[in-house]
Amino acid sequence: MLRVLLATTLLATPALAQEAADAVAPEGATAGLTPEAAAPVTSQDWMVAAANPLAAEAGARVLREGGSAADAMVAVQAVLGLVEPQSSGLGGGAFLVYYDAATGTLTTLDGRETAPMAATPKLFLTEDGERMGFWDAVVGGLSVGTPGTPMLMEEAHRRWGTASWSGLFDDAIGLAEDGFPTSLRLAMAVTGDAERLSVHPETAAYFLPGGTPLQKGETLRNPAYADTLRAMAEQGADALYEGEIAEGIVAAVRGAAQPGLLSLEDLAAYKVVEREAVCAPYHGAEVCGMGPPSSGALTVGQILAMLDRYDLAALGPDSPEAWRLIGDASRLAFADRGLYMADSDFVPMPDLLDEAYLAGRAVLLSGDMALESVEPGTPPWDHAALDLAPGLDLSLPSTSHISIVDADGNALSMTTTIENGFGSRVWAPGGFLLNNELTDFSFATHDDGRPVANRVEPGKRPRSSMAPTIVMRDGAPVLVIGSPGGSRIIGYVAQAIVAHMDWGMDPQAAVSMPHLVNRFGTYDLEEGTAAAALAPDLEALGYEVNVRGLNSGLHAIAVTPDGLIGGADPRREGVAIGE
Ligand code: DON
Repeated sequence: MLRVLLATTLLATPALAQEAADAVAPEGATAGLTPEAAAPVTSQDWMVAAANPLAAEAGARVLREGGSAADAMVAVQAVLGLVEPQSSGLGGGAFLVYYDAATGTLTTLDGRETAPMAATPKLFLTEDGERMGFWDAVVGGLSVGTPGTPMLMEEAHRRWGTASWSGLFDDAIGLAEDGFPTSLRLAMAVTGDAERLSVHPETAAYFLPGGTPLQKGETLRNPAYADTLRAMAEQGADALYEGEIAEGIVAAVRGAAQPGLLSLEDLAAYKVVEREAVCAPYHGAEVCGMGPPSSGALTVGQILAMLDRYDLAALGPDSPEAWRLIGDASRLAFADRGLYMADSDFVPMPDLLDEAYLAGRAVLLSGDMALESVEPGTPPWDHAALDLAPGLDLSLPSTSHISIVDADGNALSMTTTIENGFGSRVWAPGGFLLNNELTDFSFATHDDGRPVANRVEPGKRPRSSMAPTIVMRDGAPVLVIGSPGGSRIIGYVAQAIVAHMDWGMDPQAAVSMPHLVNRFGTYDLEEGTAAAALAPDLEALGYEVNVRGLNSGLHAIAVTPDGLIGGADPRREGVAIGE
């Protein structure tokens, strides 16, 4: 039986833990690493896959009524911000990849949070110049960047929406007013984070009413959120970037336990940025996604472009040699990511997907054993090369991924976040949590005198690992996929693409299969699954292994000549719905 154990920090009581394990354990036994997952969801016209059934149903209603993928995303995100408030919402940021069937074009929108103009590279340094402790930096106003999600919702609708904007909030407003049952996952997250959620009285009042953590099934209402959505429905996203709701955000940040720097001017100046999709070749297809400030598409792209030169299909999912190739390709890509990748509006970057460069990197994989050490490469620059120092990366569970294909063939892949579970733990009076996205910057400004590319700068966007992806073949989408998971997102997405494209797994099997993730040398193997059984083989190849929970939240939709095939990650609460 394939069992997925959740991160121990979330497991507040043994009974809750057992219930959680039962709730998320995929059905069926495994034959090696190929899961006997539930049958995938299939449909002819449209499909939506998201992390909560109420949110997916809101999107399905829009699609059923003929709305576009962009319309459905607005409805899904509005509900997610209510029912999964620990993961994403109006106080956060998101990246969106959109295929517009009418024009055959693929576009990405960057709705990433932005550092306030008053921020300096020393934001997360103590008076002694030491890096702040991670949690000291996360909890409070200092970590809050200018939110991007509300404006991204509006921008996507402005470009690709066909349904009336104001109607897209109906489900979320109804649920916020009438109440909805607290999900198991939210209840567990609250219990596990009770101490930090108690730092700010407004946050505690919502998640620990009367001092008791929300319980699974308890009806939760959020009238302030309903009011915010009503304002957004009537006035557009501006309702959050100026006026009363914006003033509430700034007051919450500045009045937080650790006051932050966000100002009304930062909110008023916020812009969603359109960027060219970043695409890498894989088996004759193009794996396309979000470029900087996300490292997602570049790192997934490097991994796959290196692997494209090896025959993973012949090796199969149970072969340690396949995992040596995947693991070391990933380590090589992460070395480049650590050194070079950051917000390219602030930091020049080399061409990390240069074909000849990656062909050379791929040769490094041709041995028999794990690479003893892995260094960043020297990709070509069209700018004088910078002498940069690698930065640190710390990310913990939250975040959500939405995949949608509509009846006209438009496809949307969006990963959305407030960064940490419950973000900064600062509650805006508009009824939502504010992000802690600024802790995705490097806390250190320099290392040994060399600047870190991902250091804080005013107006800069912190490097992300989010990898909303659309795989294109012959100019049309064939797979829409993405996941939460901090910097392991990259491994989850790359593995699921390999599982689907090399090992022939349908989207449900591809997202369910046990995870093996290698970023910096140690191989993370998913606890309680067949992946853990590969430990001796991987150790014999020279890897250190660490058996642990690997909490992805992959949502995938394959677009095939016979219709749409979807899968939702059994590790979270999501579903795929299609008709
Ligand atoms: O942008 C990023 O890469 C992170 N802030 C995402 C955080 C995340 O996925 C947390 N994980 N489960």
